[in-house]
Amino acid sequence: DWIMKDHIAEAVEQIRAQVGDEEVILGLSGGVDSSVAAALIHRAIGDQLTCVFVDHGLLRLNEGDMVMDMFAGKLHAKVIRVDASDLFLGKLAGVSDPEAKRKIIGGEFVTVFKQEAAKLVGTGAKGAKWLAQGTIYPDVIESGGAKSKKAVTIKSHHNVGGLPEQLGLKLLEPLRDLFKDEVRELGVALGLPPEMVYRHPFPGPGLGVRILGEVKKEYADLLRRADAIFIEELRNFRDEATGKTWYDLTSQAFTVFLPVKSVGVMGDGRTYDYVVALRAVQTSDFMTADWAELPYALLKKVSSRIINEVRGINRVTYDVSSKPPATIEWE
Ligand code: XMP
Repeated sequence: DWIMKDHIAEAVEQIRAQVGDEEVILGLSGGVDSSVAAALIHRAIGDQLTCVFVDHGLLRLNEGDMVMDMFAGKLHAKVIRVDASDLFLGKLAGVSDPEAKRKIIGGEFVTVFKQEAAKLVGTGAKGAKWLAQGTIYPDVIESGGAKSKKAVTIKSHHNVGGLPEQLGLKLLEPLRDLFKDEVRELGVALGLPPEMVYRHPFPGPGLGVRILGEVKKEYADLLRRADAIFIEELRNFRDEATGKTWYDLTSQAFTVFLPVKSVGVMGDGRTYDYVVALRAVQTSDFMTADWAELPYALLKKVSSRIINEVRGINRVTYDVSSKPPATIEWE
């Protein structure tokens, strides 16, 4: 609508006035906020923007390629893709403690991003002068003290605070005044696909916290395929009363890999394979959440597809725990 077009025009003017002819770096994760920030800044300054996409190898099926297709392919933005899968898997080898895993993934992410950014900063007049971040209004409020009131850290989050100073860059945050809904509307108005802009949240450490215990490539590959089936069927199944898909009726849904084996039977043979758990929740703020009462027909379809299509998984379970006392993610 025209209000959003006005908003875009104003934001574009503001970015141009702020940045002038200087270069900007942005860390693209594939998430909603960094994607919308990238699309907006690209609209404003085109090739003065370079996006750095660190692929830690713990993304969902085909996610890295989809990010590249969208930003490099369709928007023609400059994107540097850093394939760091081997590096991350190497650092995670032998580590099974959830907090230790989170710290390794978060820390390594910052290290890799800084290395790439440093190459773009340089010293000459042509080096980047700005670091753009997809900070939105709720993040601004949260860092203003609400977080520090919490006495216990349940889970340490991916946090990229302090990067601009460390890199000697000025901070550009064009979404700072917007709520999540507004960011999504802006994304659609900028031409990003609604399925991308209205995606469920995905944690920074990615599949690293959805593979219980030690992370292995074999596990990540099985999990990616199982999870893609679950999400595909959530998007296929519609609730008759509302006409909405079960993807839209849930706030977050995903698959968890359990590194235990159980016995099964397939054809006239015995199997001894891994187990996955499906998790789907409904929540308004992610602080508390109810497990979703998915239709049995949907669960049945997902279970039979995963077991038939993903060799290596022979059992599918459904997580019926609410938050609290369970958390949404399993680690
Ligand atoms: P929990 O598991 O604590 O999750 O109930 C609440 C919400 O936070 C997401 N989450 C994260 N998001 N970085 C993020 O950006 C993280 O490290 C992280 N850990 C959990 C989780 O997916 C859920 O939406």
